Amino acid sequence: MRLIPLENAQEVGAWVAQRIVNKINQFKPTAGRPFLLGLPTGSSPLVMYQQLIKQYKAGHVSFKHVVTFNMDEYVGLPEDHPQSYHTFMYENFFNHIDIDKNNIHILNGNAPDIDEECRQYEAKIKAYGKINIFVGGVGQDGHIAFNEPGSSLCSRTRIKTLTEDTRIANSRFFDNDVNQVPKHALTIGVATLMDAQEVILLVCGHNKSLALQAGVEGSVNHLWTVTALQMHPASIIVCDEPSTDDL
Ligand code: GLP
Repeated sequence: MRLIPLENAQEVGAWVAQRIVNKINQFKPTAGRPFLLGLPTGSSPLVMYQQLIKQYKAGHVSFKHVVTFNMDEYVGLPEDHPQSYHTFMYENFFNHIDIDKNNIHILNGNAPDIDEECRQYEAKIKAYGKINIFVGGVGQDGHIAFNEPGSSLCSRTRIKTLTEDTRIANSRFFDNDVNQVPKHALTIGVATLMDAQEVILLVCGHNKSLALQAGVEGSVNHLWTVTALQMHPASIIVCDEPSTDDL
């Protein structure tokens, strides 16, 4: 695992965006296989998305041959709800780049058959092959995607019940009203993430310092799912100074 400590969130986002741009540009499509990019939501990746849009507008990168898979989505929020991860992704990224909308994959939290939705998501990823880069954030309790404490480190895409801590943390996006935060989400599993060729986590802010400490210095365990990255052959954690307070 590489740990890249930078000064602030701006530098973290710019570093990750530049790596993605470089990897897309170096990518040689074999047998028409596209570049596969796994993407997160949340406040941590916002600068990264701004930088990617900037690089696209400057002509430094194209997303025409990029296929994306998002990490997770709330269950039961209408797709066009302002806080759905669908809305987040289109507003903060997809509407501003040249991606083919057919190449965007986001779990459907309103699917009539949730188990089938999750099975198909895994199957779609497998049909394409290995995700080239999966980018993620981390929750204060060390969750990656929505793999809450106690998730199996072998887990695959499925429905998860959100912890009270996660719902409280995410209530800042729901008028600070925890009752508006959905109780469930669909999420890729820890093993889905670990299958990627490279995993990059953005970690910013003092409120992530315990999660970072567990991820870097703790032992691998299912209570801090971020620790699974220690077992990944090519994982990178890019963090800002305040998040390193407990290292
Ligand atoms: C949510 C998302 C995670 C994300 C986490 C941290 O729980 N499901 O994928 O990493 O929030 O979000 P933020 O970056 O806003 O702190």
